[in-house]
Amino acid sequence: MKEENYQIVRAAPRRRDEEYAAAVKQGKPFRKEKSSKCLVYFLVLIVSLGAIVLILASIFLRAKTPEFEIKSVMVNRLTHGNASSPSFNATLVAELTMENNNFGSFKFQNGSGSLWYGIVTVGDMKIGEGLVRARETKTMKINIQVGSNGVLNNTNLTSDINSGMLKLSSHAELHGRVNLFNFVKKKKSPEMSCSMTLNLTSHAAQDLVCN
Ligand SMILES: *[C@@H]1O[C@H](CO)[C@@H](O)[C@H](O)[C@H]1NC(C)=O
Ligand SMILES: *[C@@H]1O[C@H](CO)[C@@H](O)[C@H](O)[C@H]1NC(C)=O
Ligand SMILES: *[C@@H]1O[C@H](CO)[C@@H](O)[C@H](O)[C@H]1NC(C)=O
Ligand SMILES: *[C@@H]1O[C@H](CO)[C@@H](O)[C@H](O)[C@H]1NC(C)=O
Ligand SMILES: *[C@@H]1O[C@H](CO)[C@@H](O)[C@H](O)[C@H]1NC(C)=O
Ligand SMILES: *[C@@H]1O[C@H](CO)[C@@H](O)[C@H](O)[C@H]1NC(C)=O
Repeated sequence: MKEENYQIVRAAPRRRDEEYAAAVKQGKPFRKEKSSKCLVYFLVLIVSLGAIVLILASIFLRAKTPEFEIKSVMVNRLTHGNASSPSFNATLVAELTMENNNFGSFKFQNGSGSLWYGIVTVGDMKIGEGLVRARETKTMKINIQVGSNGVLNNTNLTSDINSGMLKLSSHAELHGRVNLFNFVKKKKSPEMSCSMTLNLTSHAAQDLVCN
C-alpha cells in the first residue's frame, strides 16, 4: 500500500509532464511561427507608416522660397533731355507679385532694391513688410523714382536717348519667414532680378523680363 501510494504520487506528475511535452511538441512550433509573422507584419506597418509620414512631411513641411517678381510697370511723368544734354526722369509704378507656394504663410520685413542704368544706380525701391497666406499670391504696388542724376559722362546715354530706348535692370531681396503649421519656421529670402526697356516715345515700359 505504501509503495502504491508512493507510485501514484510519483506517477501523477509524470503523466502531466508527458501531456505537457506532447502539447509542446504540437503547439510550440505553431505558436512560434505565428508570433514571428506578427512581428513581420508589425515591422512592415511601422516602416509603411514611417514612409507615409516622410512623404507627407516632404510635401507639407518643406519650406520653398516664394517667387518674387515684377509683373508690370507703368511709367508716369517721364521727361528726358536731348542728345547734347542727355538726361531722364520718371516715376515708375511697379506691380510686384509674391507667389507663396508653401502650405504655410510667408511673413516678410521691409525690404529694398535698386534700379540700374548700366552699372549706375538710377532708382531705389522700398518694399513694405507684409504677409502672404499659404498658396496665395500677394500683389504690391510701389512707386520708384528714377533719374539720371548719377549717370555722368556716359556716352551710352546720349545714344540711348537718341534711339528713344533706355534699358534698365533691377534687383531686390526680401527677408522673411515661412511658417508651416507652427511646426517648421524657416527663413527665406526671395530675390527678384528683372530688366525692362523704357520707350521714350510711348512713355511705356516694355520687354519686362524677370528671372
Ligand atoms: C538740348 O537741351 C538743352 C537743355 O534742355 C537745350 O539747351 C538745348 O537747346 C537742346 N538742344 C537741342 C538740339 O534740342
Ligand atoms: C525728377 O523729378 C522729380 C519729381 O518729379 C524732381 O524732384 C527732380 O528734380 C527731377 N530731376 C530731374 C533731373 O529732372
Ligand atoms: C517698415 O516700413 C514702414 C513704412 O516705411 C514703417 O512704418 C515701419 O516701421 C517699418 N518696419 C520696420 C520693422 O522697420
Ligand atoms: C555702354 O554699352 C555697352 C554695350 O551695351 C557696354 O558694354 C558698356 O559697358 C556701356 N558703357 C557704360 C559706361 O555704361
Ligand atoms: C566728364 O567729362 C568732362 C568733360 O567731357 C570732364 O571734365 C569731367 O571730368 C568728366 N567727369 C568724370 C566723372 O569723368
Ligand atoms: C516705342 O513706342 C513707339 C510708339 O508706341 C513704337 O512705335 C515703337 O516701335 C516703340 N519702340 C520699340 C523699340 O518697340
